[in-house]
Parts: sequence; structure tokens; C-alpha cells
Amino acid sequence: MAYERACAEAELTEDTPLRVVLGDVPVTLVRTEGEVYAINDVCSHANVSLSEGEVEDCAIECWLHGSRFDLRTGRPSGPPATQPVPVYPVKIEADAVYVDLNQES
Ligand code: FES
Repeated sequence: MAYERACAEAELTEDTPLRVVLGDVPVTLVRTEGEVYAINDVCSHANVSLSEGEVEDCAIECWLHGSRFDLRTGRPSGPPATQPVPVYPVKIEADAVYVDLNQES
């Protein structure tokens, strides 16, 4: 429904997660492989920030126990996490990044 401005596009560096808070929702933005993705910042296994993890192969790895979450779907590819993390649609407009929290999947 409503896209919110999350940051300037120039703030995103390839494969370097950027944590933002939209309302009271922490979101990690990632530019990788030519796209920008938005994933909830909280690991589904424990309450730690995914933005501190590494990005590789369109996934972000939780720094604490190593589960990797697909940035397109939010699904973990392996344990210990078993539940997905919400992901959100992103659009780029006028050099800014917008995220729609109402369309999580
Ligand atoms: S806290 Fe993220 S995998 Fe355990």
C-alpha cells in the first residue's frame, strides 16, 4: 500500500547491509547482483541483527549461528533457523530507496 522512504540510493554499497528503522520496524537493505532487497533485520532464530551478517549469493548470513536467509524470499537455507524472515518490496525513485512494509512476504 504505502511505500516509505528508507534511504538515499547512494547510501547503499554493493553487498554491505544497511540497517534502517521504518516506524518501529528494523529493516536491512542490501544491494547485490544489480537489485536492492529489504528484509526484516531480526533473525528468526534469536533476536539478533541480520545487518551485521555477510552477503553472498543473494543471501544474508546470520553472524551468530550461520543460518543464511534468501534475500528474495526470506527463507533460511539451513539450520538452526527454521522460520523465514519477512521480506518487503522495494522501489527506487528519484535516487531514493522506498520499502512497502505492508506487503511483507
Ligand atoms: S541467531 Fe541467527 S541463526 Fe541463530
